[in-house]
Amino acid sequence: MTKITLSKKPLATLDKKYCRVVLTEDKTTWHRLVESKDGILEYKMGTGKRKNLDRRAFRTIIRSIVQSAKAHQLDQIAIELNIQTYTALDSFGSEWLYRTVAENLQLAQYEFTKYKTNDTGKTELKEIVVCGELTTSEKKAFETGLTIGESANLTRDIANTSGEDMTPSKLTTAAKAALKGTKASVKVLGASEIKAAKMGLLEAVGKGASDKPKCIIIEWWGAGKPTAADKKAGKKRPIALIGKGITYDTGGLNVKPSGAMHEMHMDMSGGAAVIGTMRAIAKLGLKKNVVACIPAAENSISADSMRAGDIATSMSGQTVEILHTDAEGRMVLADAMTYTEKHYAPRVMLDAATLTGAALAALGQHASAVLTKDSELQDTLTRLGEESGDLVWPLPLWDEYKSSLKSSRADISNIATNFSRFGGCIEGGTFLSFFAPKKTPWAHIDIAPRMESIPSDKLAKGAAGEPVRLLVAFVEQYT
Ligand code: BES
Ligand code: MN
Ligand code: ZN
Repeated sequence: MTKITLSKKPLATLDKKYCRVVLTEDKTTWHRLVESKDGILEYKMGTGKRKNLDRRAFRTIIRSIVQSAKAHQLDQIAIELNIQTYTALDSFGSEWLYRTVAENLQLAQYEFTKYKTNDTGKTELKEIVVCGELTTSEKKAFETGLTIGESANLTRDIANTSGEDMTPSKLTTAAKAALKGTKASVKVLGASEIKAAKMGLLEAVGKGASDKPKCIIIEWWGAGKPTAADKKAGKKRPIALIGKGITYDTGGLNVKPSGAMHEMHMDMSGGAAVIGTMRAIAKLGLKKNVVACIPAAENSISADSMRAGDIATSMSGQTVEILHTDAEGRMVLADAMTYTEKHYAPRVMLDAATLTGAALAALGQHASAVLTKDSELQDTLTRLGEESGDLVWPLPLWDEYKSSLKSSRADISNIATNFSRFGGCIEGGTFLSFFAPKKTPWAHIDIAPRMESIPSDKLAKGAAGEPVRLLVAFVEQYT
């Protein structure tokens, strides 16, 4: 782990051991590492014209500093940003800027080393110092950014861990560890509670695995736990965050082809992001009520697995014809949504899930898909995506799409009855809409496009840790 701190001292007066990062207005491809006569290292990095830099470019520059430092095997670096020179970012305020710096330094320093035995080729970046005279609120924003970045990195650790080491019960342990020492509570429904709650879809998905499904519930009552009277009056209702927790997705009996399975230990990325978000919220002590629900199951293959053609009864009472065992995420989410609505009556509900490969076909790998009937919620999430860096882009959730899921044998089927692959991301969202609360705004975020980082992200390979920044910003700002 890299230590990231602030210093009031000007860059030039710091100890010699720090390599000074100097940003120039040369082309972004322009990089030089130079050593002066007195042994001070200076790393010059082109950013292009600073006054033109937008939020996206700014985040990339912050990450590139760390990536370059790692590539040059530097131990300790110091940066001076002269934030007033980024005039295109003025309107977002210096708090946004320092928070963004901290978040992205934190995200960029991350490496997943859990399974490396001797990683001698790489030296760890030990320390990053950010120089400048910050106001109290700027310092606070910087600390907030570090906490959020750290929480997203925890999400990445959980998602990067192999399926064998992150089964539903181990995900439960990871959630408890993440929230340890905070005032958030973690409650877990095991096999018998899931049965008693009639969560038949979650049960069906996990039937084939030896480690049976769990439903992880995290409560954070930052605005005060609602009393019976509050509940009756509809006061202090929480924000609900639901995260897909498929700890490994073989596809089930409709098994995935080789090349499409090995990354499916990351199919709990939505759940991991919700855990990371709850950790950040609790650490930051946000004065909001938030409840998280993570349906966890392994979609495995055995004689006990659900079969294509089986019909399962959801907690909502609707029956589902399982036409495809690889469309399992929507099944577990459906029961989690019903459970959350019934027990918490949230005022808004978001779910994050690596739901469909079709989301990647639609958007590529730069943005997650957001699907909601609530145009205000859609606008809020799209705007916060841009603000936080976890980009989302809308796809429609129109009633026209519902008919394709009308089953002849049950109430609905889990994929289109004609097996069409068209509009697969919308189909997933449409299935969930049958289980969404009727009077509460709800948005589905298909994060499959952002499950893994891509080279232009300037992050370590593997889990991207999205959409932790987006969800935290949403909880902070939703009124
Ligand atoms: N977890 C997958 C979706 C996925 C694929 C996420 C690639 C990230 C990268 C999901 O459970 C799945 O298998 N979806 C199917 C749905 C289909 C059977 C309707 C898919 O996308 O093919
Ligand atoms: Mn699947
Ligand atoms: Zn899946």
